[in-house]
Amino acid sequence: MLKKPSLLKTSLLNSLSPDNPRNRLYDEAIKASQKGEFDNLNKRLRFYFLTQLVTKAVEEAPHLDLVECGCWHGHSSVIISSIMRKARCTGKLVIFDSFEGLSAFTESDLSEFKATKEQRDKAQRYFISNIDHVKSVLAPFGTAELHKGWIPEVFANQARRELSFVSIDVDMYEPTRAAIEFLYPQLRTGGIMYLDDYGYLDFPGAKKAIDEFLEKNKPRFFLENPVGSAFLIK
Ligand SMILES: C[S@@+](CC[C@H](N)C(=O)[O-])C[C@H]1O[C@@H](n2cnc3c(N)ncnc32)[C@H](O)[C@@H]1O
Repeated sequence: MLKKPSLLKTSLLNSLSPDNPRNRLYDEAIKASQKGEFDNLNKRLRFYFLTQLVTKAVEEAPHLDLVECGCWHGHSSVIISSIMRKARCTGKLVIFDSFEGLSAFTESDLSEFKATKEQRDKAQRYFISNIDHVKSVLAPFGTAELHKGWIPEVFANQARRELSFVSIDVDMYEPTRAAIEFLYPQLRTGGIMYLDDYGYLDFPGAKKAIDEFLEKNKPRFFLENPVGSAFLIK
């Protein structure tokens, strides 16, 4: 007799099936932006949430802009842009990234997983990317506006917008705190903010910044998932 698979195994098989459209979009986007490299299961599961959140946000407000903080080689940017195109979204995808890797670790970012200076330097350099590469990957969509610079300085002189969706994936405490502070007021009521690294032990600063924000602000809904990210609905 066949043994019943565990609940976890069943759900992983469903969400990771190559026939699943969300999973297919993940694969197409990683191929377009990173030649299929740097895949990991954690990210795959987090983006299972991301795709659904972007879809909902652009369905509800297809005329508004979206913002992404932290694009690296453009994997999430391609996913977001594809969903915008499918929904005939007329807004822009405004992207902010240093393209020079992570900003400096502060006291709030320290963890046993990055115990030495060497490990922290390696993590900072790992996330260096190239703006021209991301521009060319996103060119076919015709909706991206890229801004190179460090958060929060790169926000100076930026127009205030009305946003349907914000993704924050900058790993560190300071830029996560600054990005939420700058962008939450620009999110429309009912708009969605995706918060990567929430609960991911490697980068504890992201969760700290988000928890501090939640102590002072009450979005309509906040949900933490078990794979290291969260989202809120304003
Ligand atoms: C984990 S990666 C983003 C991954 C991306 N969302 C993807 O789908 O592959 C983090 C990004 O945040 C950027 N970053 C970190 N700190 C930053 C800061 N203070 N200002 C601007 N960008 C920053 C890094 O350059 C890097 O591209």
